[in-house]
Amino acid sequence: MAVVFSLPALISARFEAAAGADPELRGATKPQFGHYQTNLALRMAKSVGKPPREVAEDLVSRVQLDDLCEPPEIAGPGFINLRVKASVLAAAATELLRDERTGLPRAEVAQTVVVDYSSPNVAKQMHVGHLRSTIIGDCFARVLGALGHRVIRQNHLGDWGRQFGMLVEQILDEGLDVTTLDLPGAEALYQRANAHLKASEEFAQRARDRVVALQGGDEQTRRIWRQLIDISLAGFNATYRRMGILLTDADLAGESSYNEDLPVIAADLEHRGLAVMDDGALVVFAEGFETPAIIRNSQGGYGYICTDLAAVRRRVGVMRANRLIYVVGVPQTFHFEQVFAVSRMAGYLPADVLAEHVGFGQVLGPDGKKFSTREGTAYPLEQLLNEAEEHAAPDVALAAIKYADLSSGLQKDYTFDVERMTATTGDTGPYLQYAHARACGILRKADADGISYDAVTVVDSPEEQNVALLLTRFGETVELVAKTLQPHRLCGYLFELASALSVFYEQCPVLKSEGEVRASRLALWRAGERVLATGLGLLGISAPDRM
Ligand code: ARG
Repeated sequence: MAVVFSLPALISARFEAAAGADPELRGATKPQFGHYQTNLALRMAKSVGKPPREVAEDLVSRVQLDDLCEPPEIAGPGFINLRVKASVLAAAATELLRDERTGLPRAEVAQTVVVDYSSPNVAKQMHVGHLRSTIIGDCFARVLGALGHRVIRQNHLGDWGRQFGMLVEQILDEGLDVTTLDLPGAEALYQRANAHLKASEEFAQRARDRVVALQGGDEQTRRIWRQLIDISLAGFNATYRRMGILLTDADLAGESSYNEDLPVIAADLEHRGLAVMDDGALVVFAEGFETPAIIRNSQGGYGYICTDLAAVRRRVGVMRANRLIYVVGVPQTFHFEQVFAVSRMAGYLPADVLAEHVGFGQVLGPDGKKFSTREGTAYPLEQLLNEAEEHAAPDVALAAIKYADLSSGLQKDYTFDVERMTATTGDTGPYLQYAHARACGILRKADADGISYDAVTVVDSPEEQNVALLLTRFGETVELVAKTLQPHRLCGYLFELASALSVFYEQCPVLKSEGEVRASRLALWRAGERVLATGLGLLGISAPDRM
């Protein structure tokens, strides 16, 4: 019997079979109540027209559980308390230990999932908003991939638009060799161009003409534009490597890559009567939206929305995606609602393809205000990484940042508090790394002493049982993250596991115990270590074996 692939699911299925209802199992609140509790009898009592305790007794006599649990107990008004058999917990932990996927289920239907994330803008450094998108999107890519889905990462680089007119013009004015710039240098150039634009109407006109030249494919303009992209990418890629992010150049699908699709989209929408002319602009009025979606403005330019429509069309039509995920800050919620609505109207997004915008909140500074530099500009990501590294080794600092970003609800703002984030106690990334390193330490010691172990056979104490129970929940937790796109559920689970291992460590001596108990405890440590390492990996966090 394979039990590691979710014990609660297995128990729930037994209730479903006998009563046709989900027991909605909950963890017991106290060890003396067993391991799980269900209030199913209380919920059913009304419709059955019998006292809940009687319903509970009836349920208990009908649900076949004796291979998994001790005889169920009925408590209080009619709760059913379940205690998993120690032998089943031992078997589950052993199974997980021997499973090369560490108990991760494989999706029954593998989907093609596009994850749009990071997506910084050329000639600007990534800021804290891009940090969140990069970390969260990377976690989704890892989780979905681990469950056997086909993940297509898309970095929707901001490499097109009116700003390139002023950038190129400024470069020519200054006689600058772009290839000598780094990313901060490019950003400084951006600021000079912006100031110039505001100060001089003559420059502003040249910038507008330069946009036309860029769109028309003028050779010199395109060459400088390309150089700007290349130096920006060098900077972005360095950050991705530094942060252990999966993105590579193969995942790039910048805005400019949709240029040729834009007039096609406009014509398609117009011919089918979905888009109409309004004040010289081509727009779509989607139901439920106060403002229309602008496909082409009155100057003939295509904007952000049209590019995203083209992206949807390519992702569904060419890449055959079943699910589209966009990891972009909350302020763009309206944009994506509109893009999805228009895409549905146009048939670019069929009803069976799921499109989700995963918005996230802001990163706040220690003063509780939006995180920015002393000059009031967006806080560059690199600076933030440097700060965290002043408090901890690079991979620990990175764990601190990633975990802080993933462990609270995504929509919530969170405070960038380096001291708290890098602490090795409390609900932090470094604490989880530490828990993993401690497990490795125990196992290393056992290896050095030549002690062998290969199965969990004794799980008699509540501490051992708690660890084993948690291990059986790993797979369903990861599945839940894939479904809900809420990484904090995995963080919470791993923190619970680390805490359970810590109690196990304090209460149950390993190397000082003997014989079968010792071997079994070591095997349980190994299983815990595997789940911690795999789970951290899914968050994009390294699991060093010593700290
Ligand atoms: N470049 C945009 C920004 O920095 C984010 C792009 C998000 N992705 C998309 N498909 N629109 O705000």
